[in-house]
Amino acid sequence: MNNIVIFDTTLRDGEQSPGCSMNLAEKLEVAQALVDLKVDVIEAGFPIASPGDFEAVQAIAREVRGVTICGLARCNDKDIDRAGEALKVAEDPRIHVFLATSAIHREFKLKMGKDEIIQRAIAGVERAKMHTSNIEFSPEDAARTEPDFLCQVVEAAIKAGATTVNIPDTVGYATPAHMGGVIRDLVNRVPNIDKAVISVHCHNDLGLAVANSLAAIENGAGQVECTINGIGERAGNCSLEEIVMALRTRSDYFNKTTRIDTTRLVPASRLLTSVTGMEVQRNKAIVGRNAFAHEAGIHQDGMLKNPTTYEIMRPEDVGFKKTDLVLGKHSGRAALADRALALGYHLEGDKLQEVFEAFKKLADKKKEVYDSDIAALIEKRASSASDRWKLVRYELRLEADGIPSATVTLSRGDEKQTDTFFGGDGPLDALFRVIEKITGIQVVVRDYRVHSVSQGKDAQGESTIEVEYDGRVFRGRGVSTDTVEASTLAFLNATNRVLMSAGQPPQVSYRDTV
Ligand code: KIV
Ligand code: ZN
Repeated sequence: MNNIVIFDTTLRDGEQSPGCSMNLAEKLEVAQALVDLKVDVIEAGFPIASPGDFEAVQAIAREVRGVTICGLARCNDKDIDRAGEALKVAEDPRIHVFLATSAIHREFKLKMGKDEIIQRAIAGVERAKMHTSNIEFSPEDAARTEPDFLCQVVEAAIKAGATTVNIPDTVGYATPAHMGGVIRDLVNRVPNIDKAVISVHCHNDLGLAVANSLAAIENGAGQVECTINGIGERAGNCSLEEIVMALRTRSDYFNKTTRIDTTRLVPASRLLTSVTGMEVQRNKAIVGRNAFAHEAGIHQDGMLKNPTTYEIMRPEDVGFKKTDLVLGKHSGRAALADRALALGYHLEGDKLQEVFEAFKKLADKKKEVYDSDIAALIEKRASSASDRWKLVRYELRLEADGIPSATVTLSRGDEKQTDTFFGGDGPLDALFRVIEKITGIQVVVRDYRVHSVSQGKDAQGESTIEVEYDGRVFRGRGVSTDTVEASTLAFLNATNRVLMSAGQPPQVSYRDTV
């Protein structure tokens, strides 16, 4: 009873945030990181949304073991059967059926009365029972639903066979006292509540998702839904790393545990950043670069005397490494794999070989290879693993009158293409324009950054870029000791993401009516 079930929805709600869509290989990589973290449930996607979503849920169900794999479905037979089909191969499948219950949603979105909602909820849970006995039901916008009606819906869903009832604060409207009250009410008033686990799913519109989830746990919730780095619709979801570390650090108060291996939190956060290109702010709790940095002299003095003076958690407990061992060009494959594992990454087979080759090239250019360099190489591989177009070479020239010219060669499978662009607003613009000429994808650059990955003059540069194409946001990332190359790789990575999304039918949104 003291264990809180960690339900991760990075691959479903998280993937819905703008610019965070992932391809199949990336989803499998993130799913593996979630297994390493030891989450209890992975919500792998929304199978009816698109063929790509279906395929991803099916592949994760087939390949990922030792964890419950969940698929989302609206409350209708087609959605539920599609989820059941995708999850057929899972070791422990769960279908997550949802239907909005608040007055606003009933009146304006669903145009349904209360009785119809209850009948639909019962029918949905019963349909899901044809596929699995592990059924979660969510009354969407529960936090804004009339308490009496919420109790009725939850009771009916449990009676029909729901084993988990999830209470979403869909629009991030609740406060901790409000959310705690909603859960307490269900515990006290729903007669069959002991037959199901109560779950909570909070959005972060007011920055309260973690606080609201903790209040729900204090009042009887046994499952919390969350995402790595808190990504998700709009302002995001409850952040997995924050809720887990709050429960652990204040176990004296909450008296709850989770199965999470907290030393995997930083690697999981970094992996997600590399596959989505969505960085976390420096001062982000738990996984931000500054989360354990002490600047004030008085703090540093205290830390040297005793770290507990200013640190409530140890950096190594969340996966930051204290030692920054240095590898060099004489280090072998085993040393690299060992160091990678210490940093939280599994490197074997082809993956190890690829990173090892990149490491050797880097060690030739750079005398000392730091942990952050190794992490950047692994993450670079993860973000570009399924790139369609690859950079073969580039050349930049400034013509006599100061006009830049860029020549780029890209490859795609066996095909190679070289092109040149004269002019543009500077050398980078010229490079980006050649890539646009070759790939045929023209984007608008919305954000572009470069920063150094480790220390020293020869440090690797990491470039991140955000572009807009057809009203949608895509991100890209590139790493190299040459910052121009890093920027070119970032632009190409973003372009590849545009290409990846092209040709896919428009997604069914889970906000659409039933
Ligand atoms: O925010 C929400 O209400 C959801 C549901 C599908 C659980 O994501
Ligand atoms: Zn949500």
